[in-house]
Amino acid sequence: MQAANDRVSERLRDSAFLKALRGEPVPHTPVWYMRQAGRSLPEYLAVREGVGMLESCMDPALVTEITLQPVRRYGVDAAIFFSDIVLPMKAVGVDLEIKPGVGPVVDRPVRTLADVAAIPDLTPDHVPYVSEAVRDLVDQLGGTPLIGFAGAPFTVASYLVEGGPSKQHAKTKAMMFGAPDVWDALMRKIAGISAAYLEIQVAAGASAVQLFDSWAGALTPGDYREHVMPHSADVLARAGQLGVPRIHFGVGTSNLLGLMGEAGADVVGVDWRTPLHEAITRVGDRGVQGNLDPTLVFAPTEVMTARAAEIIEAGRSARGHVFNLGHGVLPTTDPGQLERLTEFVQGYSLD
Ligand code: CP3
Repeated sequence: MQAANDRVSERLRDSAFLKALRGEPVPHTPVWYMRQAGRSLPEYLAVREGVGMLESCMDPALVTEITLQPVRRYGVDAAIFFSDIVLPMKAVGVDLEIKPGVGPVVDRPVRTLADVAAIPDLTPDHVPYVSEAVRDLVDQLGGTPLIGFAGAPFTVASYLVEGGPSKQHAKTKAMMFGAPDVWDALMRKIAGISAAYLEIQVAAGASAVQLFDSWAGALTPGDYREHVMPHSADVLARAGQLGVPRIHFGVGTSNLLGLMGEAGADVVGVDWRTPLHEAITRVGDRGVQGNLDPTLVFAPTEVMTARAAEIIEAGRSARGHVFNLGHGVLPTTDPGQLERLTEFVQGYSLD
């Protein structure tokens, strides 16, 4: 048993994905997709039939099955734990749900110091189903690494303060600019919960983490640096103490890429709006992840793969490159195209 375990950890350590995250030479550019598990897969729709989103995140057998689905179908270089950035909030008792086609909705938005103080800190006892699912997954995945993830304080705060999805994040920013004491307390609270959520996943066997700050692109660099970055840096520092590589991703963050790296990331996730070679310059001596426009899967296969080739070539000058889409897989994506894309990226010669 011990020898078998050692062989698995050796295969994991030598996986293309973890090598790229560490900035080591790789046999091929590793590839996975944000939202690789989800509505684009018929097998996902089948197992989710009649089960709510958060309910499914609390069922270890379902989480394990859904996380494995894209690994089976595409043979991607990494699995991402099936959960949601707001799951830990639900677990500690925040009254929220995920509405299909809408996103997270919070019944009583967080607006005051008392609202923040009413949110408990996260402990492993709040999420036993997460530890169980991660352990099962790591067993079943063998040499394929599992990515644990959490939401970054700004993006999670936006859902809690707005009460639901938002384009302008106006109430969130009003708190940030106008009620610094409430803002600071809320950011510290979320940072603690997100860090604990990552620690729980890594303790159960996840071998890398990604911090999602999807909506950070709404901020100027100055405001990001002053009001948000220190809290994301706290989460990334706690993850760093676990000895796993850290990916830090946001959307529309062209002008924040340098700061998102400095916040403590080994690899910075890049959306499709920034050419990868520019992103590489901005992040300096760190790796990059990305960044094919998710709509390119709707183009003819050879148009899609030609763009993928440009991205792989650009990635060669980075400290490490993990291929991904610039944001999540769109629900109408043809899984056949992602299968062809995966094969193309993994078969692309780096010699
Ligand atoms: O495959 C994976 O990437 C892992 C699972 C995952 C989900 N959410 C599952 C999910 C991950 C990593 C997330 C993170 C997440 N959740 C983010 C950050 C990443 C990003 O997309 O920017 C954000 C902002 C959320 C909040 C959230 N949850 C949104 C905006 C939505 C979509 C609403 C909709 O229906 O379009 C959700 C729900 C959600 N989370 C779904 C999935 C697969 C869809 C729900 C369903 O299938 O019924």
